[in-house]
Order: sequence, then C-alpha cells, then structure tokens
Amino acid sequence: MKGDEKILKTLNELLKDELTAIVQYVVHAEMCADWGYERLHEAIEKRSRQEMKHAESLIERIIFLEGTPIVSQVGDVHVGPDVQTQLQSDLNAEMGAIQAYNKAIQLAMDLNDSVTRDLLESIAKDEDDHINWIEEQLAQIEQMGLPMYLTTQTKD
Ligand SMILES: [Fe+2]
Ligand SMILES: [Fe+2]
Repeated sequence: MKGDEKILKTLNELLKDELTAIVQYVVHAEMCADWGYERLHEAIEKRSRQEMKHAESLIERIIFLEGTPIVSQVGDVHVGPDVQTQLQSDLNAEMGAIQAYNKAIQLAMDLNDSVTRDLLESIAKDEDDHINWIEEQLAQIEQMGLPMYLTTQTKD
C-alpha cells in the first residue's frame, strides 16, 4: 500500500532518532558495565533493545508503505563522561523523541492513517516509560547524593 510522502519522510526521521539513541545507549550501557555498575548496565541495555524494536517497527511500516527505510544516517550522539551526565543526555534524547512522536501522531491523524497512528502511540508510551525511569534516577541522585546512588547500582 503506497503511503503518503509526508508520513514516509516523518517515519524515516523517527528511524534516524531511534538509530541515534541505540548507539548512544549501547555506549552508555557498556561504560556503566566497565565501571561495575551492573544494574545501570542492565537497565540501559534493556532500553537500547527497546529502541531497536522501535527501529524494527518503523522499518516494517516504511516498507509496507512502499517507502525506503534510510538506515545509513545517525544523528549527533552525546556520550556522557559520567553516570549523571549520561542520564541527563539520555533524558534529552527521550524528550526530543516524545516531541517528535507526538508531532508524528498528529500528522497520522490528519491523514487518517490509523494504523501508523496506533504504532506511533505504542512507541510513544515506551518513550514515556523511559523518561519516567531516567527522572527517577536523577531524583534519587539529587536526594541521596551521587556516591550513595552509585553504591545502589553495583551487584555482588
Ligand atoms: Fe524509541
Ligand atoms: Fe526511548
């Protein structure tokens, strides 16, 4: 089924953001593993896998709409030198993502593309969960202090 060009362009922009997020989160997850923060490693790795599922769903939809998925473009990756900067940097990425998904949902509604809208809404829900988790971590850092927070992120 041939999709609207505006929808295809938007889906490819979202795909680029997802690919960018995957790269950033994989690097952050591995840095946390290297520092011995195994809980952070697992949580961030899980998030990167969810972004991979998002990328897959977008690629599937673009192909169904007879577009060409652009997988050769990655945006600016912001790798943080420490845990707190990484969390802040990931939060920025997630905030950008939710804004972009909300805009895309509106476009899909305007074009009466309910299947694309449903897909985008389910992804936006995941991004909302990601924001929630990161904000919890930043709140804990503020309340207990960074050194104490980090002691909760190791595993025996
Ligand atoms: Fe995502
Ligand atoms: Fe996300």
